[in-house]
Amino acid sequence: MGRSLGVLRIGLLGLTGLLVFAALAFYIQSERILNRQYEVAAASVAVSSTPEDIAEGERLAAIAGCSGCHGDQLEGGTFFEGPWLGTIVSPDLTRVAANHTDAELEGIIRRGIRKDGTSVLVMPSEMFAHMTDSDLGKILAFIRSRPVGDGPETRLSLRLARVFLVLGEFQMATERIDAGPWPHQPGPSDPEDWGRYLAMTACTECHGTDLAGADDGTTPDLAIAAPYSLEEFQTLMRTGVPKGGHELDLMAEVARGRFVHFTNEEVTALHGYLRARAGA
Ligand code: HEC
Ligand code: HEC
Repeated sequence: MGRSLGVLRIGLLGLTGLLVFAALAFYIQSERILNRQYEVAAASVAVSSTPEDIAEGERLAAIAGCSGCHGDQLEGGTFFEGPWLGTIVSPDLTRVAANHTDAELEGIIRRGIRKDGTSVLVMPSEMFAHMTDSDLGKILAFIRSRPVGDGPETRLSLRLARVFLVLGEFQMATERIDAGPWPHQPGPSDPEDWGRYLAMTACTECHGTDLAGADDGTTPDLAIAAPYSLEEFQTLMRTGVPKGGHELDLMAEVARGRFVHFTNEEVTALHGYLRARAGA
């Protein structure tokens, strides 16, 4: 009896030691990933401050989701808080803008690389990487037009989320980027090119960098939009109600909060491109 208790005790001690060792190994490896240094390369983009460009920047920021994740007034706030996974705070962009140059902001937004050389994690830079200088310049003009507030700074306090980072389930933004900026300003003269640009800069965040759906199956391949008539597609983009009328969850939210800001011409170009992409 005494002997088997002793064995049990040694077994439990061994198991505890193993768990502590594994936790430590995950912690060290995740710190290595979070603090990995990237070469700070950034390009300056022209930032105008005409009222038209600022208003267009506000519209583009709404579509891109800047205001969704950083707040309507760009004031920042808790983006995610879970007792097990950790806490992620998106910063007050008016404050970030006040102590970053335009080139430093370009580096963060389009390349995912912060001033200190580390990568952002949640920021969908793999989507913004496609953005033209002109569109990014207008978004920066909008951010710089706002009065500087006193909202929070970036904070990533990860707990169990570290395990997913080490296992590669989450990747740093820098690792997700697979393309550079769009080579020219797309527009109505080439609707398919324009539609593709809109898809790459507004849908890749959730539907995957190739629009073929998220690896974890939470979003469909955008070929799902091919059978939509233009009118049905307009309804989805404006109200979040899909063809067939079933209930959507996150998609309904982004449609109502972000995609309502697309013009009718943009929705038409997007619809045309998604149909062409699917071979419809
Ligand atoms: C899905 C949510 C999300 C969207 C969309 C988003 N951000 Fe962020 N952003 C974050 C979070 C969270 C952080 C904190 C850093 C991180 O992700 O590791 C951040 C950080 C930043 C930073 C500061 C990084 C630093 O050095 O502290 C800037 C600048 C920024 N975002 C600009 C933008 C702009 C401009 C847009 C729109 C074009 C945008 N963000 C869209 C979530 C988002
Ligand atoms: C913030 C994440 C997010 C973004 C950005 C996003 N989607 Fe979605 N989308 C989803 C999710 C999640 C679903 C699955 C349904 C749900 O859970 O709402 C979905 C489903 C869909 C569907 C299927 C609707 C049906 O018939 O069931 C279409 C079409 C669609 N999205 C189009 C788009 C287009 C076009 C864009 C870009 C303009 C886009 N989505 C951007 C998250 C997103």
